[in-house]
Amino acid sequence: MKQQIIMKLLTGVAGLGIALGAVNVHASPEKDRQDFIKYYTEKYPHVKLDDYVYGALAFDPDAKAQYDAIMEFPPFDSVVEQGRKMFETPLKSGKKLSDCLPNGGKMIAGNYPMFDEARGKVVTLNDVINDCRVANGEAAWKVDDVKTMGVLNAYLRTLSDGMLTNVKVEGPKALAAYEDGKKSFFTRKGQLNFACANCHVQNAGVKLRSELISPAVGHTVHWPVFRGGDNLVQLQQRYVGCYRSVRAVSPPAGSTMMNNLEYFHSYLSNGLPMKASVFRK
Ligand code: HEC
Repeated sequence: MKQQIIMKLLTGVAGLGIALGAVNVHASPEKDRQDFIKYYTEKYPHVKLDDYVYGALAFDPDAKAQYDAIMEFPPFDSVVEQGRKMFETPLKSGKKLSDCLPNGGKMIAGNYPMFDEARGKVVTLNDVINDCRVANGEAAWKVDDVKTMGVLNAYLRTLSDGMLTNVKVEGPKALAAYEDGKKSFFTRKGQLNFACANCHVQNAGVKLRSELISPAVGHTVHWPVFRGGDNLVQLQQRYVGCYRSVRAVSPPAGSTMMNNLEYFHSYLSNGLPMKASVFRK
């Protein structure tokens, strides 16, 4: 990252006090979500909350128009089709994923990540897919493997299009996992010493290099993305990319830390509709 960009970002850092103050450690998840929304909508009153699902595009009408044109004939349709075939192919037991996933895999993505009381940890939809595979005689996939988990999700998550995000944080253990994710979101990391919040809260709507930075609300609803039209990226891989962009050693996708981060991060989008798969620059 170029020096002037770092300077530009650092000049905004004083504002994080406000954001951090608003999102204090003892607040409830619902209070946090409201505080985030209040922070963004007061700063950008002209951007509708519903449009946050478009990420940075919500702040850039030209880029949004280009996105709409691309989404009419998505260049990644064949990958989604490949995912459909994967979804319909019987597992070793003879059963299909649709026999194993809740509600046949339809309208479920917005419920994840979910806190699993029995296991005492957060499970993502990718974990549930792997549990189904293992229960039906198949090996688990690596959660960040693009050719397997990524392609399957490019289709599977479309079955939840329109479902409103509905992540629940209930009970002390779930709350602890949520707080852990929240801590990660606000913890500065890497040689550049940036937290997710430095960019996606106080610099949301600000231009960094050629890119406008998106708000954290709306971030989790539209995965996977196809960057440049063909480069499939899942949500936690994006986290890894953002950690690397501040020259931090990223925790691996699928780790407890990343799952808790996804749990907190997804809660912020409660009430916003899911939409897979989408184009990104
Ligand atoms: C140095 C600034 C910076 C930091 C720190 C940072 N990001 Fe990002 N992030 C970006 C930029 C730039 C993009 C691409 C433009 C956009 O969509 O915001 C991006 C994109 C994303 C996206 C994709 C948005 C979309 O709609 O496609 C997600 C999700 C995301 N970041 C999450 C995170 C999380 C979680 C963290 C902390 C682990 C983090 N980022 C840290 C700069 C940053």
